[in-house]
Amino acid sequence: MQSGFPLFPEAASTMAGQVDALYVFLVAMSAFFSLLIAASVVYCAVRYRRRSPDEVGGSFHASMVLEVTWTIIPLGIVLFLFFWGARVFFLQVEPPANALELTATGKQWMWRFQHPEGQREINALHVPTGQPIRVEMISEDVLHSLYFPAFRTKMDVVPGRYTTLWFEATKPGTYHLFCAEYCGTQHSGMVGWVEVMTPEDYEHWLAGGAAADKPAAAAGADLFASIGCNTCHVEQGGGRAPSLRGVFGKQVQLTNGQTVVADASYLRRSILEPPADVVAGYQPIMPTYKGQISEENLFKLIAYIKSLGEAGGTPAPAAAPAAAAAPLAAVAPVAPAAGTEGVHP
Ligand code: CUA
Repeated sequence: MQSGFPLFPEAASTMAGQVDALYVFLVAMSAFFSLLIAASVVYCAVRYRRRSPDEVGGSFHASMVLEVTWTIIPLGIVLFLFFWGARVFFLQVEPPANALELTATGKQWMWRFQHPEGQREINALHVPTGQPIRVEMISEDVLHSLYFPAFRTKMDVVPGRYTTLWFEATKPGTYHLFCAEYCGTQHSGMVGWVEVMTPEDYEHWLAGGAAADKPAAAAGADLFASIGCNTCHVEQGGGRAPSLRGVFGKQVQLTNGQTVVADASYLRRSILEPPADVVAGYQPIMPTYKGQISEENLFKLIAYIKSLGEAGGTPAPAAAPAAAAAPLAAVAPVAPAAGTEGVHP
């Protein structure tokens, strides 16, 4: 934390230096040209002022050299800024492949975070240094925006659609996190703290006091069984619905001839609006789960499906085997069991 009057928030991520350098360059460039132009205006006004009441202005032809020079130089500067800015932008939006995946849900007016091992936090987030963290986010109601000034990263959180941001913290400490999109009466209270810890302290924290559910994938497996998904989506295949083993990240052929990638957004839509994308060779018999599964539970179901193996990879061992199968007849959706929504301060 800082005291006094800081010009910049603390720089505590791998991106911070890059964003600041770009920003400082932009400000310095703007200041330089503002001063240059203002000084030139004053200089010319004094130097070429009218000296006697009957003085008449002379004829003036623009200098081609001057025109070309002050076109080419600014063009070079803005192109340089464009490529530099684009480079920082792409670094900012493409998480490294080894990123740890956290989920966040925004709702009026709080942030909920969940770690892959099941730890849940509200308006607080614990992360280790030296590890890229990817946050997959969704809103339960209106637009929010998750902002970590010390990491120089911010991303809108949108109802009905997943967005992501990533950062790699570099410096242990406690930093602000904000909602940066006006979202109603208590928008200004939708704030919290991110606690950056050394990897050792983070391990202790994971093992210790944090309120933990099951790991996300295992919780998703339980849910998959308790709401009856496994009666049709038989993992070994041969069910009334496609097996979900290895489907994550794969191209899926639909009945309408289109091909889509089975990413988190596709899976979410398939659960909430099953008729939207029916897999080729199957009937549109799946009931909708709209309004019956919370966004947090959707994250868990997706974590479970992901743990069944990504395209080209082997199934991850994380997922517990699905609990006792529901009766085959139970195709109708069942509300998720109470108690999965426990909240801690
Ligand atoms: Cu949420 Cu502003």
